Amino acid sequence: MLAPGEKTASSVDTVALRRAFGTFVTGVTVITTRDATGAPRGMTANSFTSVSLDPPLLLVCVGKSAHSFGAFNNSDSFAVNLLHEAQTDVSNLFASKSATKFDMVDHDRVHTGAPILVNCLTWFDCTVHNRVDAGDHVVLIGEVKAFGTSPSAPLGFCRGRYANVKDPLPPGWLESHDMIVGYLIEADGQLLLREDGKGGWALPSARRRVADTELKLDGGEALTLVPDATFLYSVFDVSDNDPGYLIYRARLAHGSASVALPAGLKFFPIAELPYDAIPTREISSMLRRYARESADKRFGIYMGSDDGGRLAMVGEAQPWASLPNN
Ligand SMILES: Cc1cc2nc3c(=O)[nH]c(=O)nc-3n(C[C@H](O)[C@H](O)[C@H](O)COP(=O)(O)O)c2cc1C
Repeated sequence: MLAPGEKTASSVDTVALRRAFGTFVTGVTVITTRDATGAPRGMTANSFTSVSLDPPLLLVCVGKSAHSFGAFNNSDSFAVNLLHEAQTDVSNLFASKSATKFDMVDHDRVHTGAPILVNCLTWFDCTVHNRVDAGDHVVLIGEVKAFGTSPSAPLGFCRGRYANVKDPLPPGWLESHDMIVGYLIEADGQLLLREDGKGGWALPSARRRVADTELKLDGGEALTLVPDATFLYSVFDVSDNDPGYLIYRARLAHGSASVALPAGLKFFPIAELPYDAIPTREISSMLRRYARESADKRFGIYMGSDDGGRLAMVGEAQPWASLPNN
């Protein structure tokens, strides 16, 4: 490693070079993996670049002097978690040498087992496609196996400082993604699931988002919801040919799970969800997160709109709170 200001063999001033590199505006990510014992490891990285759509490839550059370098260099999978504008604390934490980084953030396994930060802008769960030795870094090229994204505004970085990015969602962005719209419908500590026709269980789904009092499900049944208590919960894709999922949570009116339900629908106690009978692994993983968060009554829900985005804060059915348009 070169000391600050030291010239390289090619006589480039490394401090000046770092400053020049730093004028390139980037987002901020936390890259994560597991070490040989299975413990989560991770660091802040802005060297992320998308590489290829077919096959789906991305890259990050991992410094050889990082404590977690060995873990990234030996693991066959890793994840890239892009941060949203309210996550400068997460960026600072993962840029530190703290041994307890993962005690401070909620994380989950989705596909490869690499830690996915539950609350982030976008995540990519990857297997290692290739490693390229490059000076004091190794370029880690990943093949995307699963990914998810949210409508939050990204955290930016330029000249060594965090930057806000004005990123109102284009009108119709969510709808135009032609996603499967699923609902987490809760009543009295129970969650509504529907038979998938193949012996398993799935989330009730609807043609499009209707954050209203009446929800017309695919199949024709209509359920009455508590008004103003429908919140965006999760937006993600899976690696197969599914068009992607947009998940809302809602509460059934009457506040009771004992109402007469249309055929094929059933309430399950949240502590006893039939995870093994839910064929889509990403849905099953999301339901585990939902069960945990439901026990704590702490949900983070993000939703964009033309006027700069809205954030429904944690807790039970609180009204939308407008974010300042900065
Ligand atoms: C905004 C930002 C971007 C960074 N990007 C990278 C990067 O792309 N690659 C890298 O190796 N380190 C990068 N770092 C530095 C690491 O996050 C830092 O060295 C961290 O302490 C490594 O953690 P570890 O030693 O616990 O593995 C970045 C730091 C910040 C604040």
